[in-house]
Amino acid sequence: MEFPTDSNLIVGLDRADDAGVYKITDDIAIIQTVDFFTPIVDDPYWFGQIAVANALSDVYAMGGVPKTAMNIVCFPINQMDISVLQRIIQGGIDKMKEADVVLAGGHSVEDNELKYGLAVTGFIHPDHILTKRHLKVGDRLILTKPIGTGIINTAVKGGLVSVEIIESVTKLMASLNRKAAEIMKNYPVHACTDITGFGLLGHLSEMVVDSEFGIRIQSNMIPIIRGTLDYAGMGFIPAGAYRNREFREKIVDISSSVDRSIQDILFDPQTSGGLLICVDSKSADDLLIRLKNKGMDAAAMIGKVVPKPKGRIVVN
Ligand code: CO
Ligand code: CO
Ligand code: CO
Repeated sequence: MEFPTDSNLIVGLDRADDAGVYKITDDIAIIQTVDFFTPIVDDPYWFGQIAVANALSDVYAMGGVPKTAMNIVCFPINQMDISVLQRIIQGGIDKMKEADVVLAGGHSVEDNELKYGLAVTGFIHPDHILTKRHLKVGDRLILTKPIGTGIINTAVKGGLVSVEIIESVTKLMASLNRKAAEIMKNYPVHACTDITGFGLLGHLSEMVVDSEFGIRIQSNMIPIIRGTLDYAGMGFIPAGAYRNREFREKIVDISSSVDRSIQDILFDPQTSGGLLICVDSKSADDLLIRLKNKGMDAAAMIGKVVPKPKGRIVVN
């Protein structure tokens, strides 16, 4: 397919990235992204918060600041009480307030299946955009949130997860990537993305595919949500994890010493996951300490950019 082009469209559809970026002047560009989905938790107020944290995340992943948002609502008005929608929107608005984002409008349609999310506009200096490219050999990779939300949510449907774990995962998914984005601005960060539907190795694949470098991941350093390993071992693997693996296994070499459940977790689709930050090695320890001190206790250095094998990920 051929898309219309414009020299001011700095990040567009030619290579998948977190969001589109359009340059307005030499000093300012707008970041645009849209995300909406079906409920991931039972509580409508928390679902609203998670949907907004998730939609804003792509702006943070580009290194930008989200400013305005438009609600996107699909609602089964004949089957569901309108108070459910009110709770969802309230959760969304409260999360936008936390992010200093204003709601500029929105659109709703009747649909058999409830869906909620946002179209978001953010700002960034055109010279400071962080894409999934420009990684340099020697760089370190830092992940800001633990992974496993897809597996946990699958186990929740099986009725196996404690209220305590459900609450902590809900809060994790509702937490903004804002602080991480603000902190990384002060460091020599070369690339960034956020971990969502393709899972950790899926999003790493987007960074490494067709490149002149490789990525080495240390599986024992990856932060994993409590309980995930047990549920993965019991077989609560969402279908998306298998699809993610099938899609990318050609460029991923996982050592046979890595436990099968860990392998599944590495491809587990995430909802509102953390930022994956690629930073100059000299600043990596310092950045990690800053993130931890600012409340991201699970943040971890999980791997590095290596000269070989080109275009591939090696997991030990
Ligand atoms: Co993204
Ligand atoms: Co997105
Ligand atoms: Co990015």
